[in-house]
Amino acid sequence: MPSLTVSLSERSYSIDIGHGNLDRAGAFLSSLGGGTVSHAVVLTDEHVSSYGYARIVADAIADAGIDVSLFVIAAGESSKSIETAATLWETLLEDGTDRKSVLVAVGGGVIGDLAGFIAATFARGIRFFQVPTTLLAQVDSSVGGKVGINLPGAKNMVGAFHQPVGVLIDTATLETLDATQYACGLGEIAKYAVSLDAALFERLESDAADVGRRDRDILSEIVFRCCEIKAGIVANDERETTGFRALLNYGHTFAHVFETLVFETLGDYRLPHGQAVAVGCVCAARLALKLGRVDTAFLERQIRLLQRLDLPTSLLDLGASIEPKRAVDLMNRDKKVENGRLRFVLPIELGRCELVGGIDPRTVMEAIECDT
Ligand code: NAD
Ligand code: GLY
Repeated sequence: MPSLTVSLSERSYSIDIGHGNLDRAGAFLSSLGGGTVSHAVVLTDEHVSSYGYARIVADAIADAGIDVSLFVIAAGESSKSIETAATLWETLLEDGTDRKSVLVAVGGGVIGDLAGFIAATFARGIRFFQVPTTLLAQVDSSVGGKVGINLPGAKNMVGAFHQPVGVLIDTATLETLDATQYACGLGEIAKYAVSLDAALFERLESDAADVGRRDRDILSEIVFRCCEIKAGIVANDERETTGFRALLNYGHTFAHVFETLVFETLGDYRLPHGQAVAVGCVCAARLALKLGRVDTAFLERQIRLLQRLDLPTSLLDLGASIEPKRAVDLMNRDKKVENGRLRFVLPIELGRCELVGGIDPRTVMEAIECDT
């Protein structure tokens, strides 16, 4: 089974990638160093539960002689809340969880971020294990230890860096994703390709049709490559202190404000994150073009790839629009969190990007205006 390591000295862990490998969860927990695991708590959401994935994981853990409980919560971003966290802290306490227990997250980024946050805080920190089941979680959120919950007006505002003890990826789970969730994962994959790996970009160009029909071998190689890129970056800048880890955020400054503004405007409609990232990547490339960092051919080639992957390249493709000035105001408001500097990850060539500050807000607005 393909495997790679996130090298973080005593916090190092492996990422195992396979097809139909959920039942290896028990063997993995049995093999953990740092004290035996006598108790595991599997956390999942109701959609993932309906496909039986968490049950397979829990049964495999029980077969390994480990006492296991399975808890199912509501699916969706609203579960990344302090209310759900408080309920889960109580649940863990009643279930006899202690510092030798392991919390096992079976689901997408919501379950992974929430379970990781619970694990970081319960009993001042217990171990957690990631079993990501969305493409987005497999290529991005399950690796790197960013865990957290949302505040009502601020996504991911309360959290921690808490690395998992391992990541078990079963690409067979991707077969049950709906088209939108699958596209969201492709948005993050395209992000890696444009900003960090030209060879991956070329591969996506040549294999777009196979990627679209979820070819098992190609998907497994692409998931592996994305995890490899992220593992390398996290190993070098675990807590995002040098700016290196920030390079994972190509398109995200735009995407985050698009998500917030569309939610503010349409209320009950949330822009899917990975699709917002795809549109954000187009705006970032357009900004880079306006700053003379890339040429028109670069922008057009990126747009063509996103279209071939069935990703939106404009908010209009998603039936949404926003006011560019409001977007830049919101970016500026968030500056407080970024040490007072508005910065963008911008490409310099295919597969290479830099963190750039000091950009005139009017140029940023122009990069968005073309989209609305
Ligand atoms: P999600 O967890 O809400 O999953 C999306 C939907 O797919 C849910 O309804 C879920 O029940 C369903 N689902 C999950 N696996 C399935 C499967 N195999 N088959 C069918 N349905 C399935 O969302 P997501 O897109 O996985 O993750 C988004 C979250 O991840 C956001 O909260 C975002 O902030 C976070 N995130 C975190 C990081 C990080 O580094 N920690 C990085 C990127 C995103
Ligand atoms: N998703 C960006 C990061 O983990 O840093």
